Amino acid sequence: MKKIIITGATSGIGRELALQFAKKGHKVGLIGRRTERLEELKDEIGEQAYIRTQDVTEHEEAENTYRSLIDEMGGMDIMILNAGMGRIQMLPPWKAESKLIELNALAFAHGCHFAFDYFKEQGHGQIVGMSSMAALLAHHRAAAYTASKHFISNYMVGYRQKAKRVDADISVTEIRAGYIWTEMTERAKGMFWVASVEKAASQMIRGIDKKKNIFYVTRRWRLMAWVAKLVPEFIWNRI
Ligand SMILES: NC(=O)c1ccc[n+]([C@@H]2O[C@H](COP(=O)([O-])OP(=O)(O)OC[C@H]3O[C@@H](n4cnc5c(N)ncnc54)[C@H](OP(=O)(O)O)[C@@H]3O)[C@@H](O)[C@H]2O)c1
Repeated sequence: MKKIIITGATSGIGRELALQFAKKGHKVGLIGRRTERLEELKDEIGEQAYIRTQDVTEHEEAENTYRSLIDEMGGMDIMILNAGMGRIQMLPPWKAESKLIELNALAFAHGCHFAFDYFKEQGHGQIVGMSSMAALLAHHRAAAYTASKHFISNYMVGYRQKAKRVDADISVTEIRAGYIWTEMTERAKGMFWVASVEKAASQMIRGIDKKKNIFYVTRRWRLMAWVAKLVPEFIWNRI
């Protein structure tokens, strides 16, 4: 039985990971801003679920929340940094971009930093970052989003190197997900190879269990990663 904290657990991928991990007998610590959703999830999972309402961009408060969840759960073995957002249409463009960067990049880095220090002290643990295929594919309609996922990806390479240099068994797993049906993508157009959240989460769990460094979900997106690496920028610019 592992103790797993998941940020962004009120919907989509985070919620489904919580359900599937709990079904496998693990304890799950769930974080998000929507209290009602957390309470519903707690009702569904039962006593293996521990919940906290928290905006992870409030770093100081978030750190206290992580600590209090760990205390209540009796420890932490895996921290899944999943909270993230896509485009926000209600805000003026710069406000929307800065909010996205604050969450997808800065709050992610804060969570990663916290988890690393905790696992270093403990001597073992696993950090999982919810990156995306977008990390490899810049896009003119989602420059902040694709750049934020590139940040996650690159940051995790650095943390993997850091982990090798300390006297602790810390794994750093980056999940590069393709399109998945969730609230984030419900109005998106032009998607392909879209996976159900159930299938995506079950593949993610396999990658997490195997402590993979980088894991593509669904697996066919690995092909696209090769294409992205091989196709020169001037060709992408025309696509
Ligand atoms: N769906 C895809 O196709 C896809 C593909 C690749 C990667 N991803 C990544 O997967 C992750 C989850 O996305 P999803 O598709 O499952 O979308 P989602 O259903 O919209 O889930 C986003 C989660 O993040 C939480 N969140 C947002 N802002 C937060 C904040 N400030 N503090 C704490 N939690 C916050 C939301 O909860 P509250 O609103 O309750 O706070 C929600 O639980 C994201 O990082 C996304 O970039 C998604």
